[in-house]
Amino acid sequence: MANPTKIPFLDLVAPHQELEAELLAVAKKAFSNAGFIGGPMVEEFEKEFAAFCDAKYCVGVNSGTDALRFAFMGAGVKPGEIVITVPHTFIATTEAISQAGAQIAFVDIDEKTYTLSPERLREYLEMRCDFDSNSGALIERSSKQRVVGVVPVHLYGQTADMDPILELAAKFNLWVIEDACQAHGAEYFSKKQNRWLRAGSMGLAAAFSFYPGKNLGACGEAGATTTNDAALAARMKMIRDHGQAKKYYHDIEGYNGRLDSIQAGWLSVKLKHLAKWNESRRALAHRYHELFAEMKDVMTIPVEASWTKGVYHLYVVRVADREALQSALTETGIGTGIHYPIPLHLQKAYVNLNYKQGDFPVTEQVAAQIVSLPMFPQLSNDMQDVVVSRVKDFVGAKVGLAR
Ligand SMILES: Cc1ncc(COP(=O)(O)O)c(C=O)c1O
Repeated sequence: MANPTKIPFLDLVAPHQELEAELLAVAKKAFSNAGFIGGPMVEEFEKEFAAFCDAKYCVGVNSGTDALRFAFMGAGVKPGEIVITVPHTFIATTEAISQAGAQIAFVDIDEKTYTLSPERLREYLEMRCDFDSNSGALIERSSKQRVVGVVPVHLYGQTADMDPILELAAKFNLWVIEDACQAHGAEYFSKKQNRWLRAGSMGLAAAFSFYPGKNLGACGEAGATTTNDAALAARMKMIRDHGQAKKYYHDIEGYNGRLDSIQAGWLSVKLKHLAKWNESRRALAHRYHELFAEMKDVMTIPVEASWTKGVYHLYVVRVADREALQSALTETGIGTGIHYPIPLHLQKAYVNLNYKQGDFPVTEQVAAQIVSLPMFPQLSNDMQDVVVSRVKDFVGAKVGLAR
């Protein structure tokens, strides 16, 4: 390309132009019967998305945050109980834990996959907690609070290593709720079951976000939980709808957290394209891997563990001087992101948890070095070549200077 055009971090316009006629038809249908809340479009999407995730039930809600929060509440967390997750995730994961009334406990991530480290989880469970085999309760020694659940986050579209996580959870009587907000369609090879499993089908429940930039995105806010547990699905349906299963009969206090019918209809249209879009993201990721292969001494590229088929919601690399790389790319019109710059245990919002710098060294190192490069299904090979050559120019010049 003689005169490289701007390369966005994410292009949300192209897929909507491509699908415009179908998307407008959904809106027209909703206008024709004014069925804006609930109804057949929501039920159809729930059925389709449950099938896509290989789960029995799907409950549509109005964000990924609500999907997590309602799943925790549906699982029955009580005030003060502890839920474990990672400090390297979007804050919605932990907001949902706190807002369901539970306390957050962090466990560090694995350095290669950026997902919950089963080893660090084992250490926390075995060394910092006591298991009462009579009551089946796991108690954290320092706070004397009961630990009830684990939330692995399938970050950047790669699944966490679920076999050992599920095994530890079963051993200590904990539920597992997957944060699959970035992992629509990602797969995990379970050695235990000798088969590939879909994100959203492995834990007691799983939460998905349909925020517009996600692999499956709505045209506004939306989310869903999936589960194989009929009773849990029924509870989450009540929680999303003011605690009612029958209109104006409120068994509990719930929320206004329903999925809009138009969003559900739009999600059904887009769901038909998701497998193709995910394949395109995988092909682009593998192309990035190949083009960056010669730089492995100076830049860390994503590792796709043998047990995951990632859907590359993000393509995240690590370099020593990421602010400089980001500025250099911005100057030449290339969009980037940082997911996420400040680990959650060091955020102001969580000073009350009394964590400190050094508590989660892998998360801290990763958070200081990561940069997310352009990644979306419509990214062309030409655009990708420009990104790669700009990154190579920058990293090569840096290495040259250092020598
Ligand atoms: C890992 C993770 N968890 C939860 C959420 C929350 O989803 P939403 O923005 O739809 O509430 C997101 C969305 O960015 C996410 O990336």
